[in-house]
Amino acid sequence: MAEVVIVRDPAEGGEIAAELIARLVAAKPDAVLGLATGSTPLPIWKALAARNGTAAHSLDLGRVRGFALDEYIGLPPGHPESYRSVITREVVEPLGMNPALVRVPGDDGGPTEGAGERYERDIAAAGGVDLQVLGIGRTGHIGFNEPGSSLVSRTRVKTLTEQTRADNARFFDSPEQVPRHCLTQGLGTILDARHLLLLAFGEAKASAIAGAVEGPVSSSLPGSAIQLHPFVTVIVDSPAAAKLAYADYYRFAWDNRLDFER
Ligand code: PGA
Repeated sequence: MAEVVIVRDPAEGGEIAAELIARLVAAKPDAVLGLATGSTPLPIWKALAARNGTAAHSLDLGRVRGFALDEYIGLPPGHPESYRSVITREVVEPLGMNPALVRVPGDDGGPTEGAGERYERDIAAAGGVDLQVLGIGRTGHIGFNEPGSSLVSRTRVKTLTEQTRADNARFFDSPEQVPRHCLTQGLGTILDARHLLLLAFGEAKASAIAGAVEGPVSSSLPGSAIQLHPFVTVIVDSPAAAKLAYADYYRFAWDNRLDFER
């Protein structure tokens, strides 16, 4: 099952996630990271940026390769809310990553049709994703795999739910500007990553987290696909953990982890 870490606040969650990424990159300087957008991962990027090139942590992400989970369809090139722009602004630049090594679905200049298959080939050619960062939507989506997504789906075009469009309207001038379609890694694509790192903060995510971690595995709650993966770390604050039946056990397990697990 997933290792569930219940943290004091998003900043602590970001530190723990950053430490996992830093250890991976120390062992494999050209590691392949699966990158997520949204508000949730921001504390990770902040914690990593603070370590970047400092004397205390000689973290160098310059050779790390990245594959974003998803991208809107239909925004003009260079739109500030395209995930290409968001990843460049929030991840690549502050972390000193090489933009040429970071990919977003559909960014290869080819047609949207077939873009998913091409992205899959490119991930495979990079040797697969070592660590995939994930947020979760209130619909239970990971990536933009909305309810009903096949548990073995691959990168493809999806239609966003109205809930997700409303949730993301805060990034746009008006709700109508939120695209209706996206390219997203599939649940099967995500499950191929060697380590899944799912974060969620705030009570609005409590139901999605309970369903993902403890609910039945079902395409109705796509995040529950993580239960099919052998190596998952879930980092949540107390409000997001509020509906977990086994929260006390997760706290006990974390507090009593063995030396080699620390
Ligand atoms: P958020 O989005 O991190 O902005 O809450 C998460 C998601 O929709 O996957």
